[in-house]
Amino acid sequence: MIYPVILAGGSGTRLWPMSRSLYPKQLISLYNAHTMLQNTLLRLSGLSDLGDPVIICNENHRFMTAEQIRRIDINDFKIILEPAARNTAPAIALAALILDDNLKPEPQDEPVMLVLPADHEIKNIEIFHEIIQSGAQLARQGKLVTFGIVPSSPETGYGYIKKGNGLDNSDPAFMIDRFVEKPDYDTAVSYLESGDFCWNSGMFMFKASAVISELEVFAPDMLEKCRKAIENGNMDLDFFRVDKTAFESITEDSIDYAVMEKTAKGVVITLDAGWNDLGSFDALWQTGDKDDCNNVTSGDVLVHNVTDTYIHSDNRLVAAVGLEKFVIVDTKDAVLVAPRDQVQDVKKIVTQLKAQN
Ligand code: GDD
Ligand code: MG
Repeated sequence: MIYPVILAGGSGTRLWPMSRSLYPKQLISLYNAHTMLQNTLLRLSGLSDLGDPVIICNENHRFMTAEQIRRIDINDFKIILEPAARNTAPAIALAALILDDNLKPEPQDEPVMLVLPADHEIKNIEIFHEIIQSGAQLARQGKLVTFGIVPSSPETGYGYIKKGNGLDNSDPAFMIDRFVEKPDYDTAVSYLESGDFCWNSGMFMFKASAVISELEVFAPDMLEKCRKAIENGNMDLDFFRVDKTAFESITEDSIDYAVMEKTAKGVVITLDAGWNDLGSFDALWQTGDKDDCNNVTSGDVLVHNVTDTYIHSDNRLVAAVGLEKFVIVDTKDAVLVAPRDQVQDVKKIVTQLKAQN
């Protein structure tokens, strides 16, 4: 069986003021009527051999997370609650340990995890489903599978994968020659120019036992603390709450740095399905429906002589004149205005806000 494991504990600070600490980006709607979390689950509908999804989120968001899942008529799921964010490696470790232990599988039917971030848009669901079936086959052989995207710019916010030997002529699957998480700009430019690299999409497939044994080698202390956090954890209503002391003692790390950069078992399947990480307002502009002047607008918005701009208004009229490549986001209690090429720094405003509170 394939078990979807949804990473839903990020904070989405580059999308402030749309994404707030009580309503982080996975719990808001960014490109259609559903929230990012709901879209992540709905996208799986129609896949065969699927187990109940496991969602890992911060305890502060537990009721909203459960409510959003029930609203799309999914009633069988597990939610694991983290008392604090420790990035993706501990979250994946918790899910792997719980799946491996709870299911006590026969060796031939070990659970395959399909790890999905809750901040992506994927336009071609059919191709996405096909690629998951290829991924499952490789995962069953003990591989750690990633999905690679053909890069279109020297993004420094992504992991880069250098493709090695092809695995099978019929599949776009390769051994991973090198995995470099978030390189600096010059390195990203050289990777892009070489044509040998793809972006890591941040989705993974592996057997629970396979990722546990790699964590055993590369992050034994983290794995041990995750084991303890589960051992001393408890059920709280429908939620599994991990032990606070044990979990908070973990040093934060992402699965990309902790395992994927180091493992020799990594494989990459190339994915061309209209994938986007909707992590910043620039990404929302890139992927949104544009008017004749290349503007993406939502809500009550009026423009004159405005081009290549993203404007969103939650509840009142926003008017703009004579702007090029800007972002304006108006919400009930905060307004953001920034040149589009500087929106990665929106997270610095969130840091300032946190320091004030
Ligand atoms: N449960 C939990 N706990 N989830 C978390 C935590 C945490 O502490 N931190 C992040 N997440 C979730 C986020 O909500 C998101 O859905 C997913 O994990 C990935 O985290 P991001 O913070 O968005 O990672 P990233 O975008 O910077 O980098 C990853 O994704 C890129 C592609 O979008 C990496 O895998 C890169 O290599 C990759 O290119
Ligand atoms: Mg992301």
